[in-house]
Amino acid sequence: MSIKIQPEAIANLRGFELPERLGFGTVMAPVMFRARYEDGCWSSGELVPYAPLMLDPAAKVLHYAQSCFEGLKAYRNGSGAALFRPERNAARMQHSAERLCMPPVPESLFMEGVRTVTAYCANLIPANSGESLYLRPFLIGTQPDLSVTASSAYDFYVIASPSAAYHPGNMRLWIEREDSRAAVGGTGDSKVGGNYAASLQSIARLKERGYDQSLWLSPSNRQTVDELSGMNFFAVMDGVLHTPALNGSILEGVTRDSLLTLAREMDIEVHERDIDIDDLLALVRSGTCSEAFACGTAAIVSPISELGDDNGNYKLNSAPGPVAEKLRAALLDIQEGRSEDRFGWIQRV
Ligand code: COI
Repeated sequence: MSIKIQPEAIANLRGFELPERLGFGTVMAPVMFRARYEDGCWSSGELVPYAPLMLDPAAKVLHYAQSCFEGLKAYRNGSGAALFRPERNAARMQHSAERLCMPPVPESLFMEGVRTVTAYCANLIPANSGESLYLRPFLIGTQPDLSVTASSAYDFYVIASPSAAYHPGNMRLWIEREDSRAAVGGTGDSKVGGNYAASLQSIARLKERGYDQSLWLSPSNRQTVDELSGMNFFAVMDGVLHTPALNGSILEGVTRDSLLTLAREMDIEVHERDIDIDDLLALVRSGTCSEAFACGTAAIVSPISELGDDNGNYKLNSAPGPVAEKLRAALLDIQEGRSEDRFGWIQRV
């Protein structure tokens, strides 16, 4: 399929300037990629100006949350731009779409979307290490119809935001013992908007208490650690790296998988297992758990300085700890082209 480039999109790019200071996801690139699904077929994609969407107020996405998304980044890498493991995002988006009874975006269309936006926005990739062009592909059900059935029409978009890391600096985590972000047999391992909506009330509560992020427990036992709202969790105990095993309610993070690979390469012992929250707190108190951190595409690697709940605060010995620092540096070195792409993770654009 050949992609159409609207002249207004090119005009928008010409007039765009990167602001000096970037946060996360607040500055939007002035173009976006769009493809439509109707009558069982995908249209060819087009690059269009970034603009508000026209949606019928009865569109399924607005009522029944037929909405899934991805997060990946384009980096400055040598003299060009590079994507990091985008095929993993394409596959995960297909998994999320299937869970919500939406047509999976074909890998070729997904790649065309992220590669086109990256190519046309290459000048908008920030130059500082740790900053990048954050790409947000998303798929929504657009059919105007209030019956609780899957939409017959969908839009796939890729928008982009020149961004810094999601949470620079150390994080204080609140252990969420009241609510669950996902249900047993639900959508926890899919990247769907509803999971994030379910986390917002907890985030509002913990901010009032001076914390940064919720640490979610498994919905099946309310006792073992699952993940943060948009990041996976790691802890170092006696020099061994531990992360919760994938259990159906944890999102399978691309960064999580990449850090596990890098840790094994560094001869760090790695355990993917259930982590009981009260055992973890006892190990933090005794100093056996020396560091903890979270990771994700947006966050990269974010050190955790403290865990808290109604019974008190538990401070980690070091934040950032040495393992988090080594892994973060190794990951960024590959993404930003300073070290060899020895795992075949980089796709040049
Ligand atoms: C990502 O890391 O790409 C995410 O989607 C996390 C978040 C900002 C929701």
